[in-house]
Formats: sequence, C-alpha cells, structure tokens
Amino acid sequence: MSEIPWTWLLIRASGVTAWGLLSAVVLYGLLLRTRLLGRKAQPATLLTMHRWLGSIALGALALHMGLLLVDPVVAFTIPQILVPGLAPWQPFDVALGIAAFWLLISVGLAARLRTRLGKAGNTVFRRAHLFAFAAWPLATMHYVLAGTDALAEWSIALIVAVSGLLVFALLARGFVPPPARPTQPAKAPAQAPAQELNKELVDSTT
Ligand code: HEM
Repeated sequence: MSEIPWTWLLIRASGVTAWGLLSAVVLYGLLLRTRLLGRKAQPATLLTMHRWLGSIALGALALHMGLLLVDPVVAFTIPQILVPGLAPWQPFDVALGIAAFWLLISVGLAARLRTRLGKAGNTVFRRAHLFAFAAWPLATMHYVLAGTDALAEWSIALIVAVSGLLVFALLARGFVPPPARPTQPAKAPAQAPAQELNKELVDSTT
C-alpha cells in the first residue's frame, strides 16, 4: 500500500467519483424526461440537479486527468491525456475515457452557446446532447478495462447496481411519452418567463 503513489490512488478515486457523478447526470436526465417521480420531484429541480451534477462531474474528471500529469509512474503528457491513442499505458482503454471526455465537453459548450445562437443553438444543443448519451457507455467500458479496482467486489456491485438503475430508467424512457410541448398562444408579457422555463425543460429532455 505504501508503495503506491498517492497520485495513483487519487487518480482511481477521482475516476470512480467522476463515473458515479456521470451516472447521476444520466439518471437525472432520464427522470426529467420521463417524470417517473411524478409530483415528488419538480422538473425545474431535476434540471438544476442534472446541470449541477454535470459541472461537478467535469470537475472530478479534470482532477482525474490532471493528476495523470503529475503521477511519477506513468507521467502522461498533455497531448497524451487529450488525444485518443497516444497514452503510454493501455492506449485503447484510456482512449475510451478520452472519447467520453470530449463528448461531455461538446455538450457543455453547446449548452453555453445555445442561447447565443438563437434557433440554431437549440438544434446544435439537441444534437450534441444526443451524442452525449454515448459518453456513459464509453466511460463505463473505460472503467471496466482500465480500472485497477474494476474487478474488486465493491466495484462490480457498484457497476451492476448503477447500470441496472439506468437500464430501468432508460426502458421507462421508451415507454413513457415525453411531456407535451406547450402550445404557443399570444404571449402575455407577465407569463413569458414561465413559458421560457417550460420550453427549456421540454427541449432539455428531447
Ligand atoms: C467521462 C470520462 C471518464 C470517466 C468517468 C473515468 C473514470 C475512470 C474510472 C472509474 C477508472 C477506474 C478507477 C479505479 O480503478 O479505481 C478510471 C481509470 C483510469 N482513467 Fe479514467 N475516466 C474518464 C476519462 C479519462 C481520461 C480522459 C483519461 C485520460 C488519459 C483517463 C485516464 C485513466 C487512467 C490512466 C486510469 C487507470 C487508473 C487505474 O489504475 O485504475 N480517464 N477512469
């Protein structure tokens, strides 16, 4: 235990944290889309959680990747943590994580540009968001193939429990119709903010 550099331990801990947070982001997105929890969870709260968890998942991921630059054993370089296939250690397994990272970055950027690009911003965001669905399976394959702890009992139990929960929510997504799009009556100025929020909620879940 004492021979393992603290950086490597933290790389693993931040990896599992990032994966757990990413799973929670997907779960909140699916709950928002299906409204499975009914009145127990307000859509606006689910959306806030979905975004907030996404930001902290990226923070944990930044730590996971940043520590690879200072780890004395593997000593990755900046191109090696950003470009799939360049890693000095298990390049394919690491490339899966890098691909998931770029998908998350693109959906984050699309979310930021969304309002600035007007109507086109919505289309860009929806497409980027669709691609982001691939981030979770890629990150999970990366976890299973690259992780030192992947086959530990606690880790297998975690992966099976979380995957089961997401598969259940995903199946529900297929069976539960999306919330109805609001019709567009002439806008009374006082109602505009509520309508905007409603539209944003519906757009975020399709
Ligand atoms: C969404 C993106 C990512 C997630 C969720 C993620 C998550 C994980 C997890 C859960 C592990 C296993 C930790 C353990 O065994 O305890 C891991 C390992 C690892 N990850 Fe990532 N990762 C991601 C992206 C990346 C990226 C972009 C790199 C950059 C090079 C990277 C490099 C590594 C390396 C080198 C390991 C092996 C550490 C070990 O011995 O377990 N990961 N990652």
